[in-house]
Amino acid sequence: MKKTLAFALGGALSLPAFAAAAGELNLICSADVVICEKLVSEFQASHPDTKVNMVRLSSGEAYAKVRAEGRNPQTDLWWGGTGDPHLQAAADELTAPYESPLLADQQDWSKKQAEISGNRTIGVYTGALGWGYNTKIFADKGLKEPACWADLLDPSLKGEIQLADPNSSGTAYTALATLVQLMGEDQAFDYLKKLNANVSQYTKSGSAPVKAAARGETGMGIVFLHDAVSQTVEGFPIKPMTPCEGTGYEVGSMSIIEGAQNPDEAKAFYDWVLTPEAQNLMPESGSFQIPSNKNATPSENVPDLSTVKLIDYDFAKYGSSETRKALLARWDAEVGGAATE
Ligand code: F6P
Repeated sequence: MKKTLAFALGGALSLPAFAAAAGELNLICSADVVICEKLVSEFQASHPDTKVNMVRLSSGEAYAKVRAEGRNPQTDLWWGGTGDPHLQAAADELTAPYESPLLADQQDWSKKQAEISGNRTIGVYTGALGWGYNTKIFADKGLKEPACWADLLDPSLKGEIQLADPNSSGTAYTALATLVQLMGEDQAFDYLKKLNANVSQYTKSGSAPVKAAARGETGMGIVFLHDAVSQTVEGFPIKPMTPCEGTGYEVGSMSIIEGAQNPDEAKAFYDWVLTPEAQNLMPESGSFQIPSNKNATPSENVPDLSTVKLIDYDFAKYGSSETRKALLARWDAEVGGAATE
């Protein structure tokens, strides 16, 4: 009843107001900390009765936290982060089904995420995997522009590449699953073992490698294209690229936790963050993913994915518990590396 009235009023006032809720909201945010903080402050401004407690965790860490909390959840809502661990949480029934009144306004890739999970998760943004390299470092060292996955194995790049650890980072898991889909599993692990010779560090967070490249600490970072673009927009000498052989992509997702202590507050945030107004906060905060709401205003800095050679990423398979667990175990055994950031 409350929801219907609020929805009707929202339509009339142009800024939709959904389920009114008071109290607390315990939120895990798995995207860049700047947009995480912006969403929290804007939500609190329009919902002054709700206190939001937010923690920023990489996608794999967030999944581990939700799993560890199990049937005694401390978290209410998980926003952002790559879709695969959200799908794994859905399959484990750690997240709850919810159909937002905003579902119809979302892009097909967002709805597909809801469909394959029985509405336990939904897509909130998308973006392709690629890398960003520091043009100044490459020019100073006389290094060739890395255009293809194959180029990253060149011995001249020894110590020049960073990427994240796929256990903690959804970006790095997307890279692992992408290479497996592009090459076949055994060949992908051969590739990763060879690549290891050029990797100076496996970071905890997915975007840390290109931030390090921007600061001149490494030549390049394998990251989502939009995270490379953020550094270019900030004025760093970073050139964003996508590999010539093809690449994968993420459907950044959102899920309400099963048995959440504050389900009304979780639904209020969920509905609000699917609005164009909330999604337009992303480019303002230096986050250049493609937003899920069809009516959000596209930023000129958002990469045009029609120019990228995208693989047909199998989210149902690579987001399944069985596949994700098996690939991570194999990565630990054969590639390994300590997360450092
Ligand atoms: O920095 C933003 C972002 O790349 C999101 O697009 C993505 O969902 C998330 O970070 C992945 O972060 P991580 O690799 O640390 O899990």
